[in-house]
Amino acid sequence: MIKTFGCQMNVYDSERMGELLGGEGYTPTDNADEADLVILNTCHIREKAAEKVYSEVGRLRQSANARKAQGNETLIAVAGCVAQAEGPEIMRRAPAVNMVFGPQTYHRLPEMLASARKAQEHGQTARVLDTDFPAEAKFDQLPKKRGSSGPAAFVTAQEGCDKFCTFCVVPYTRGAETSRPVAAIEDEVRSLVESGVVEISLLGQNVNAYHGVDASGQDVSLAGLVRRLAKIDGLERIRYTTSHPRDMTDELIAAHGEIEKLMPYLHLPVQAGSDRILAAMNRKHTAESYLKIMERLKAARPDLALSGDFIVGFPGETEEDFQATLDLVKAVRYAQAYSFKYSPRPGTPAADMEAQVPEDEKSDRLARLQALLNQHQLEFNQASVGKTVPVLFERKGKHAGQLVGRSPWMQAVHVLAPDHAIGDLVNCTLLSAGANSLEGGLADRLAAA
Ligand code: 5AD
Ligand code: SF4
Repeated sequence: MIKTFGCQMNVYDSERMGELLGGEGYTPTDNADEADLVILNTCHIREKAAEKVYSEVGRLRQSANARKAQGNETLIAVAGCVAQAEGPEIMRRAPAVNMVFGPQTYHRLPEMLASARKAQEHGQTARVLDTDFPAEAKFDQLPKKRGSSGPAAFVTAQEGCDKFCTFCVVPYTRGAETSRPVAAIEDEVRSLVESGVVEISLLGQNVNAYHGVDASGQDVSLAGLVRRLAKIDGLERIRYTTSHPRDMTDELIAAHGEIEKLMPYLHLPVQAGSDRILAAMNRKHTAESYLKIMERLKAARPDLALSGDFIVGFPGETEEDFQATLDLVKAVRYAQAYSFKYSPRPGTPAADMEAQVPEDEKSDRLARLQALLNQHQLEFNQASVGKTVPVLFERKGKHAGQLVGRSPWMQAVHVLAPDHAIGDLVNCTLLSAGANSLEGGLADRLAAA
């Protein structure tokens, strides 16, 4: 059993771990009571991440004990960014945990399992800690062949971050910025397309800083990578996430107008609208430079939908600073957004800053920001009603006979359609809209009626 917390990168890592474990004879389960191995793939970005891990482990220890009474051994592993940040502490505080490993070492799982099993065979408690940043390339060590469970898949292009925003743990947990070679990504995408994938999202903590090498040793940018992937027959849609405003190059902005398969949706976090706070966050951009990028993107691709991340209550944020965030939101009008209360992460510079904002003030600002973001999101969706757009059906919906898919603008669309249409790109007419999803009908069927 692999339990995943946090970002899409963790979802991807969990999938790859699942494939690796498949090769070791493990089969997936959702039930801790029947799992020989439980991996918690953790996220360290926001509050109480470590506390959540300890309480999960407490519950898992109980099912492990129950299994032991019946003669079954269970291995408990903590992986991901909490493991990376707090490995030795987890080993000390949670003796029930057998293995702790970070995002850069999970390709060594077979070795870790072998040594854990050996310890068990000798009647010892297995304990392995592996949170290096190893020299060998993780992706070279993972099984090459990748299948996919749906028509839309994630592919890691880049990992780590050198930006050091003062609130963020990523540069410490995921390490320095590295890019996968072009050929490795092309191979992975081709094998996904062969297994029925039509949409890929290129992943990276700072994916638009991508600078992989091609077969001739040349440096390739993210725009160059997208251009090459767009040539793969059968691949219909390309997205990428997450980006930093500083790396939004002219070439990448232009690519949004030139590459048809590149979808008109961009997640470009801004975090705050006050230049004073942006400087304290070490974001390396201002509100104005961000708005300029947005303008240029819109000029390249007028129907581009924008998404962002926001933090309210960063140390020192005044009501006036917060108003600047609301002003920026009004200027951009995001189609989608993620917003968070600032939470001090141990080891990051902002955690030690003075003038931490009181919790109730943070909650109040978050509620006001989210009300505005939700209103814009609803308006964006409502403006789509009446349009006929291609929807990629990804899975069954909650109601019988219903499928859920995504529009080019990442909107979730619910449509009455037969199950065999999963994986198809189908023209749908959007009939009604809520803040989080739309209802649509099959355009051909509506036209015939
Ligand atoms: N507190 C609150 N939000 C944070 N994020 C990252 N670190 C913190 C923190 N310490 C948010 C940022 C980032 C998103 C992935 O999580 O908005 O873009
Ligand atoms: Fe964290 Fe993103 Fe800043 Fe990198 S750019 S430090 S991942 S918030």
